[in-house]
Amino acid sequence: MDKPIILSIDTSCDETSAAVTSGRLVLSNVISSQISIHQKYGGVYPALAKRAHQERIDYVVQKAIQNAKKNRFDAVAVTQGPGLAIALEVGIKKAKQISENPLAIRENHRLPLIAVNHLEGHIYSCLAQSVGGLPKREIIFPALCLVVSGGHTELVLMKNHGEYQLIGETLDDACGEALDKAAIILKLGYPGGPVIEKLASKGEALRSYILSQPLKDKKNLNFSYSGLKTQFLYLIQSLSQKEFSQNLQNLALSFQTACFEQITRKTSQAIRVYQPKMILCGGGVISNKTLRKLLRQTAKNNNLPVFFPPKKNLITDNAAMIGVAAYYKYLRGEFVKNIDLLDREPRMTLDSHKLQADSR
Ligand code: KG4
Ligand code: ZN
Repeated sequence: MDKPIILSIDTSCDETSAAVTSGRLVLSNVISSQISIHQKYGGVYPALAKRAHQERIDYVVQKAIQNAKKNRFDAVAVTQGPGLAIALEVGIKKAKQISENPLAIRENHRLPLIAVNHLEGHIYSCLAQSVGGLPKREIIFPALCLVVSGGHTELVLMKNHGEYQLIGETLDDACGEALDKAAIILKLGYPGGPVIEKLASKGEALRSYILSQPLKDKKNLNFSYSGLKTQFLYLIQSLSQKEFSQNLQNLALSFQTACFEQITRKTSQAIRVYQPKMILCGGGVISNKTLRKLLRQTAKNNNLPVFFPPKKNLITDNAAMIGVAAYYKYLRGEFVKNIDLLDREPRMTLDSHKLQADSR
């Protein structure tokens, strides 16, 4: 049987993205980044993000359809949350329009609408395949999922497709957010993760600065990054201009090392407690080669397979990952029942649908 063809949209933060997927196959994945708009503010400026999404959404959707060379669709999928409320709204409005008035995309019947959690998208990005059907990997349950992005740092136990248990999360800043803030402290601009990675790769471990780890003695699986950022700020303020400029690479390495130490420590702890069969990693910070290497080592130490998104443009925000997550929802018949009632959920959690279902 042919796999369902899904047109998906993500406007959760500062990328306007639309994609066409067929089951797990990514037929197109168009991403319009707003980095240049937000750069001068050192972070995402919500009102400008909304306007940019509104200006670009039609073009991005048409381009995704054109690139996929498809003119029949089985469903429309959209990110419902978590994310910036006024940014999410743009994607949801467009998805509703397409679902109810599919003539705009030359489809002649109403299309079912699927609402997807953005974090679920990051997890399912590991299952995306290119047109040749590779990679063929399958999830073995229970799987330990690690999502490390600009908005989230979470450990999630995935018991089956669509069944999640949040087992650890950040108590304050997300890891990507901390890297972004450290880059501002170092006057390196936005987003910080990629610049810090580049500088850190040239740093010398022996000449790096020691930052003490928060929650080191805590047994739970939560993360904390705001204390690390404050320590880093004080460290920078204590340096002379000369020491600062001579040690930029070592400083970047020190901060990055401290950020990732927490991730590998908590991931190892989660493996001991929950005994998963494999690890799935997603979210923008997973773009970092050092982090991937550390996580590969963690998986190897525990004899576990580990999956990362198979392509670079599936790691940071994109709609193809929403399409792949939507495919599994399609198989389970999880469609939006009343389209008029679908609203953005800026603080949506991975188990919120289950909680809503439970309370009905
Ligand atoms: O998943 P994502 O695109 O958006 C959110 O859902 O938040 O993640 C964006 C985050 C930013 O904080 C950015 O600095 C970080 O991912 N990031 C990186 C790298 N590339 C992007 N962090 C570390 N190393 C990278 N190479
Ligand atoms: Zn994201």
